[in-house]
Amino acid sequence: MKIEGRTFVITGGASGLGRATAEMIGQNGGNVAILDLNADLGKATAAELGPFARFFPCDVTSTESIARAVEGTVAWVKETGKELGGIVPAAGIANPGTILDRTGKPFDLSTFDLVIAVNVRGVIDTVRQFLEHLAQVPPVGPDGERGVIVLVASTAAFEAQKGQVAYGASKGAIAGMTLPMTRDLARYGVRVVSIAPSPFRSPMEAMMSEKVKKGLLAAVEFPRRSGEPVEFAALVKHSIENSMLNGSVIRIDGGMRLPSKM
Ligand SMILES: NC(=O)c1ccc[n+]([C@@H]2O[C@H](COP(=O)([O-])OP(=O)(O)OC[C@H]3O[C@@H](n4cnc5c(N)ncnc54)[C@H](O)[C@@H]3O)[C@@H](O)[C@H]2O)c1
Repeated sequence: MKIEGRTFVITGGASGLGRATAEMIGQNGGNVAILDLNADLGKATAAELGPFARFFPCDVTSTESIARAVEGTVAWVKETGKELGGIVPAAGIANPGTILDRTGKPFDLSTFDLVIAVNVRGVIDTVRQFLEHLAQVPPVGPDGERGVIVLVASTAAFEAQKGQVAYGASKGAIAGMTLPMTRDLARYGVRVVSIAPSPFRSPMEAMMSEKVKKGLLAAVEFPRRSGEPVEFAALVKHSIENSMLNGSVIRIDGGMRLPSKM
């Protein structure tokens, strides 16, 4: 599917990998609806990117909040004539914590619940509400394609480390929902691809200690560095443009396989 002339929805689009994806969409002639919890950053990002980007405040843990963002986006799409083309639900949080602390006390379920609420329920709810509109756009091209959903998993879906029970569970869920969602949406001409990045340069990564960062990089084969957001965005671009990509979880990780701990 072509990016040009279409509107893509990016949650978490105010920062990191989501922001790089928004830039890529603009560079390729598409419009971007940036949905983010951080209203200041979201507004500033949309203003910096230019008229192809519009910010819609949204907390993906709230069905009503998503509904308002959907309404705003659909009205903008009508105004511009650039039909919906896809959804990239990139909003995510990590919130580490071991299931038992050093004294043998189990972690508080509220942390686990929040990670699942943002990274799993938030993804499903956003995709679900936008799909109602995406499934109705006129099919295009010889394949009758309507759109693409690019989910954001993580290499933690497969080898999450100590302290990543919640994050690993949430990203494992993204990997696990990729194929059934693909099968559900085939009849509508909507594809689903998941991308599973290793550590990429972003504010999320900047929060890690130097020791952890160094340890993580030691597990990368080549090139021994963090991924760059533009490299993530390039894979989103390819996932949108290559119609034979469907139902797969694609790792982008420089050959990295994470050990249990650093
Ligand atoms: N950066 C990495 O190393 C890396 C690696 C693997 C996977 N990922 C995944 O990529 C995605 C983007 O990560 P990033 O590194 O760019 O993170 P980031 O922290 O830079 O950006 C995340 C964005 O999500 C927004 N957000 C958080 N909670 C929200 C909510 N409830 N509703 C709406 N927006 C919310 C934040 O405001 C922020 O703008 C996440 O799903 C993350 O798990 C990142």
